[in-house]
Amino acid sequence: MSLDARAARALLAFYLEAGADALVGEQPVDRMADEPAAAAREAENPAQAKPARESSGLRHGRERPAPAATPPAPAPPPPEVAAMAAREAASGAKTLDELRALLENFRGCALHATATQLVFADGNPRGRVMFVGEAPGYEEDLSGRPFVGRSGKLLDRMMEAIGLDRESAYIANVVPWRPPGNRTPTPQETAICLPFIRRQIELADPDILVCLGQPSTQTLLGTREGITRTRGRWFKYDTGSREIRALATLHPAYLLRQPLQKRLAWRDFLAIKKALAG
Ligand code: URA
Repeated sequence: MSLDARAARALLAFYLEAGADALVGEQPVDRMADEPAAAAREAENPAQAKPARESSGLRHGRERPAPAATPPAPAPPPPEVAAMAAREAASGAKTLDELRALLENFRGCALHATATQLVFADGNPRGRVMFVGEAPGYEEDLSGRPFVGRSGKLLDRMMEAIGLDRESAYIANVVPWRPPGNRTPTPQETAICLPFIRRQIELADPDILVCLGQPSTQTLLGTREGITRTRGRWFKYDTGSREIRALATLHPAYLLRQPLQKRLAWRDFLAIKKALAG
């Protein structure tokens, strides 16, 4: 591979890592160019291109007025301020629809700016079981629904095995926006989103909460140990209105990478079935 090709690959890998995983145009645009439109004109018709001095804004020795700049997007508030705003906003939501609307307009978490859309929930909010994952991935970001990619398909099959589906169970994530490049949400992002998922659980009011994977378990159940220690254990979860049962289990994405661990997840799902029957 030539040096140029290697450099191009490394640059693409960097973009991907940073979350730039979709094309927005057919042609590359040099955003560092002084005047992109003039550069494009010159490329199309070099003979009629204006002298560089003119195209850079100097005409007859006088400055051309600068074009009106688009005001920059306001910077998000500091995390502690955003977390406080999130708590206030979330506690004011009287219904899940209100909560969704609040989140649609909430600007305290910078992830909203890089995500395609909010991924609020899927399934039946009146279901007796609520599953909560970590954060949406690429396909969830595009569709606006949690767990629709490969791990979502596995979750569907696991639910089906114990008689559940998206008509009878409710599904959400701790963080409702996709982090760029599927990176792990930062502790600050998680802290900002926490009041919203807590309120979502309270308003959905399931009998059983299932935390999918370690981040969801640690965030919602306050555990410190790893998921291999906490999985299969029942916890008490205070929704704010009542105490319900919560189970920690392995994340379907982990099970896709470690299929032998599915036997453990199967035990957990049988425990959910039993708890629902009891
Ligand atoms: N992983 C998650 O934690 N949530 C999703 O919605 C998809 C994948």
